[in-house]
Amino acid sequence: MVVIGGPSSQLLAGRVAAILGEELAMADYKVFPDGEAYSQVATALGDEVTVIQSTPTDRDIIYLMQLLDICQGKKISLVIPYFGYARQDKIFKSGEPMTARAVAHALNPFLGEGSRVYTINIHARTVLDHFKPWSQNLDATLLLSQALARMDLMKPVVISPDKGAVLMAQEAAKGLGAECDYLQKTRLSGTEVSMAPKEINVSGRDVVIVDDMIATGGTMATAISMLKAQGAVMVFLATVHPVLTGNALIKLYRSGVEAVVATDTLDKGVSTVSVAPLIAQAIRANRA
Ligand code: R5P
Repeated sequence: MVVIGGPSSQLLAGRVAAILGEELAMADYKVFPDGEAYSQVATALGDEVTVIQSTPTDRDIIYLMQLLDICQGKKISLVIPYFGYARQDKIFKSGEPMTARAVAHALNPFLGEGSRVYTINIHARTVLDHFKPWSQNLDATLLLSQALARMDLMKPVVISPDKGAVLMAQEAAKGLGAECDYLQKTRLSGTEVSMAPKEINVSGRDVVIVDDMIATGGTMATAISMLKAQGAVMVFLATVHPVLTGNALIKLYRSGVEAVVATDTLDKGVSTVSVAPLIAQAIRANRA
């Protein structure tokens, strides 16, 4: 079987192919002068293929559609490690689209019988309901906590920046044998908000803030400053998806973060934890 890596998931696809012992397809991607995307897969494909492509940008969605079109009629294991637009999972205001649903619906026609869809720590699991084929969301939290466990943290506390990531933080805390809490926001004025762990005093302890993604880094930067002011010794960030737009890393390091630990669902400098074993294991298990 052949693994096809989209332009935003080349490294991850290479790692998955190596674990599965399968061929990594030769593929070429470019952009025409008018901005249109171009893809070509030069390797001969059998009846079953694995396509791996994160979609952090709109162009990445087009590349993914092109790859799926190349694979039409085949049984496809589609892995979207980072699914962009997953935060637009509801119609928040009347007149808005549910973009996560629109993207899933755009991909469905390419996914014939026997195809499967995999995501990793997707922001809202309900997004998977919009896919026609069988789908599975894989959880990379254990991989993150294994990496954190190697860091020799002092009396660590795992903190979720909001109630939304509490389950993930609890899972990471279990893996680390640490206590867990979430940040509670208190509005001090029209412009000022204070954040503190609901129960635990972080003074004199190392803290790990866990979230599914870091985008602008705004949420995390505020949380780091507040926790440091409350006496936390070292503050680490652990995230599955290092989207890290613009100057996110500058904001985080200016706030005093010790290190950012992230996975390779997006290939960034901080992507030191690979989700390739998780993907390979799921693909193998579902083929058996
Ligand atoms: C939101 O619900 C997510 O889990 C993240 O907390 C959020 O997307 C982070 O965004 P930013 O890095 O822009 O603060």
